[in-house]
Amino acid sequence: MRIVLVAGARPNFMKIAPLIHEMNKLDFCDYILVHTGQHYDYQMSRVFFEEFKIPEPNYFLNVGSGSHAVQTAKIMMEFERVCISELPEMVVVVGDVNSTLACALTAKKLNLKAAHVEAGLRSGDMTMPEEINRIVTDSISDYLFASEKSGITNLKKEGKSDEQIFFVGNVMIDTLFLQLEALKNSEINDTWHLEKKRYGVVTLHRPSNVDTKEVCSGIVDSLIEISTDMELIFPVHPRTRKNFEDFGLIGKIEKSRIRLKQPLSYSEFLRYWKDAAIVLTDSGGLQEETTVLGIPCFTLRDNTERPITAEIGTNIIVGNKKDSIMRAYGDFKAGILKTGTVPDLWDGKAAQRIVNILIDKL
Ligand code: UD1
Repeated sequence: MRIVLVAGARPNFMKIAPLIHEMNKLDFCDYILVHTGQHYDYQMSRVFFEEFKIPEPNYFLNVGSGSHAVQTAKIMMEFERVCISELPEMVVVVGDVNSTLACALTAKKLNLKAAHVEAGLRSGDMTMPEEINRIVTDSISDYLFASEKSGITNLKKEGKSDEQIFFVGNVMIDTLFLQLEALKNSEINDTWHLEKKRYGVVTLHRPSNVDTKEVCSGIVDSLIEISTDMELIFPVHPRTRKNFEDFGLIGKIEKSRIRLKQPLSYSEFLRYWKDAAIVLTDSGGLQEETTVLGIPCFTLRDNTERPITAEIGTNIIVGNKKDSIMRAYGDFKAGILKTGTVPDLWDGKAAQRIVNILIDKL
């Protein structure tokens, strides 16, 4: 029995790690790990392999960056070779990045079974490249592992049968719990002497927030204003840093109390955000992680594909305009806070459930 597991970009690595550890424990099949190379910088890729003790990939496809068509096509061409030579019983893809879509599509064109972890999430926003990746991947996958109940509702609406859909919880949270345990008693070791709950953490990388000067400048102005009230730690994605430079924003950011950092490893980053007063982000995973630890989260988007985090968690969908961000920050300062609860099955055991189902299906 042979399963191919695919990972390509930063948010995939925290999802694939618990699956690999569970498969190693049970030793029920051979797995082949494929890294597409969508992300390739040390801080965007390798550091997570070291931190999560993910074994060396069996194949590194080295596709690198490019337009969506180029990147997706290159992954498909390279991944087809892997599938033909390995002839797996199943291909498992995670998340919603271009690697997810490209490998699911390649597998199905070769009549291989495909399983999608984190299935059914929908933002309803077709301008998001990830939304297209989610819809296409789910529409062709055989087994759909949903992390929250909205996923099940969406998949059923799209005509998927009960036999294909499995509510398993959230593999990101498996990784969060493991890494939190490893960090116990570890303090932030930082030259800025940050005090717990007296600073904020920021991440931004969505094209809709950072690719146009007008939107990007509005967000930066809001962050600068917030930073007069509390220091902001901001590990910067390569796409975002390039645009800050191109739009001439770096100078004013560096004069403010926004602390720009290189992209951080998982544990370095966790050390910051777990004790933050607030997180401002456009990341998907961070909306979920802050909900689990009860940290207030402002999502700088108009929608979320992870509605449970806003319905019962600490997430607030704030948008990306300066007035809406500052209004929400005003409420936060006035003590209007959302207390949250943890969604069903976000308990650190999602990978265990998934692997048990895979054993059954193989
Ligand atoms: C991708 C995913 C997005 C995910 C994000 C996490 C898609 C469509 N998007 O977006 O869903 O939330 O990863 O980070 O799959 N770059 C580097 N070094 C790297 C990788 C990228 O410098 O290791 C730079 C390149 O200039 C590249 C740009 O970042 O052109 C964007 O990378 P890309 O993988 O195309 O998209 P992300 O914005 O990272």
